[in-house]
Amino acid sequence: MKYRVAILPGDGIGPEVMDEALKVLDVVERKTGVSFERIFGHIGGEAYDKFGTPFPDETKKICENSDAILLGSVGGKEWDDLPPHLKPEIGGLLGLRKFLKLHTNLRPVKVYRALIGISPLSDRVLKDEVDLVTVRELSLGIYFGEPKKLEDDVGLDTMVYDAETVRRIAKLAFEIARRRRKKVTSVDKANVLYSSMLWRKVVENVSKEYPDVFLEHLYVDNAAMQLILNPSRFDVILTTNMFGDILSDESAVLAGSLGMLPSASFGERVNLYEPAGGSAPDIAGKNLANPIAQILSLSMMLRYSFHMDEIADKVDETVEMTLEQGYRTKDISEDGRFISTSEMGDRICENLSKIL
Ligand code: IPM
Ligand code: MN
Repeated sequence: MKYRVAILPGDGIGPEVMDEALKVLDVVERKTGVSFERIFGHIGGEAYDKFGTPFPDETKKICENSDAILLGSVGGKEWDDLPPHLKPEIGGLLGLRKFLKLHTNLRPVKVYRALIGISPLSDRVLKDEVDLVTVRELSLGIYFGEPKKLEDDVGLDTMVYDAETVRRIAKLAFEIARRRRKKVTSVDKANVLYSSMLWRKVVENVSKEYPDVFLEHLYVDNAAMQLILNPSRFDVILTTNMFGDILSDESAVLAGSLGMLPSASFGERVNLYEPAGGSAPDIAGKNLANPIAQILSLSMMLRYSFHMDEIADKVDETVEMTLEQGYRTKDISEDGRFISTSEMGDRICENLSKIL
C-alpha cells in the first residue's frame, strides 16, 4: 500500500515539530510496511517570501493530488502588516481550508493523569476524567461570511449560517457522539445572534434523528465558564467557526498546553491534519517546542484518512507512555527540567518501535 501525503511545514515552530512527526511516520512505515510518499509544499509566510503569495499554485496542486495533508503552522510578526489576503493566516491557512472545502474541524482534548500537576486548574476541577472533542464548523460563520471589507474608517465581517451548513456539521457531531458518551453540547449565542437562532433550531431538528444522543444547548459565554469549572461534563462540543476557535484554545489549558492539541479537518475529499496551536514565533528555531500536537495530528491522519485505527491507538498510547515516563518539553514541565523538541520525538519513536 502506498499513500501520498502532502507535507506543509509552514512557519515558526512548524518545521521543527513536523520533523518529529515525520520520524514517527518513519517508524510506522517500517513496522507496518505501508509506505507514505511525502510531497513537500510551501505555505504561509515562508511561501510569501519565496513566491509572493502565502498559498502558491504549486501547493494547491500538491494538495489536490495527495491522499491527506499534514500541516505545521503559519504566521509570524514579519508578515503581520501585509494586506489581509496576503497574510499567512488568511491567504494561507484560510485559503487552504476554503480550497479544500473543509467544513468540520475536530479538536480532541484528553487530560493525561501525568500532566494534571501542571494545570492551573485545581485538582477538584480535574478529579473526574476529561475527554472531550470540539467539533468546529470550518467553512462559514464570521470567518468567511460576505460582505467582508477593510476600509480606512470601517472594518466589516459578516456572521452567516445557512441551514444546510449547520445540518451537515450537526449530523457529524451526533454521529461522533454516538461512538462516544452520547452527549452533544451545542454552543451558540442564540439569545442575541440571528445566525445562532438558526443554528439552534437546525441542531434541535437534527437531534430528532438521534434519540439515543443527549443534546444540550449552552450560550458561548456560559460554555467558556463551564469548560474550566466542570470540564468532565462535556463529551462533544458542537459549535461555530469562531466560537470553536476560542473554546478550543481554552480547552487546551485542560490538557496542559496548546502544544498538546491536535486537529483534523474534513472536507469533500482530501483532509487536513494540523496542530490547533499557532506558530509560536517566540520559541521558533530553538528546539524547545512541544511536538506532541503534531504527532497526535499525524495519528489522526492515520486514523481518519487511512483507517489505520490500531496504529493510531498505538501512537496515542505511546505519547501517554512517554509522558508517564516523565519526559517533558518546556511548556509542560513542572519543575523546570525539560527535554528538547527532537529528544521528545526520539523518546516517542523509541517507545513506539517497542510496542508496534
Ligand atoms: C486555528 C488558528 C486559525 C483559526 C488562524 C491561524 C487562522 O487560530 O486553527 O485555531 O483562527 O482558525
Ligand atoms: Mn485558533
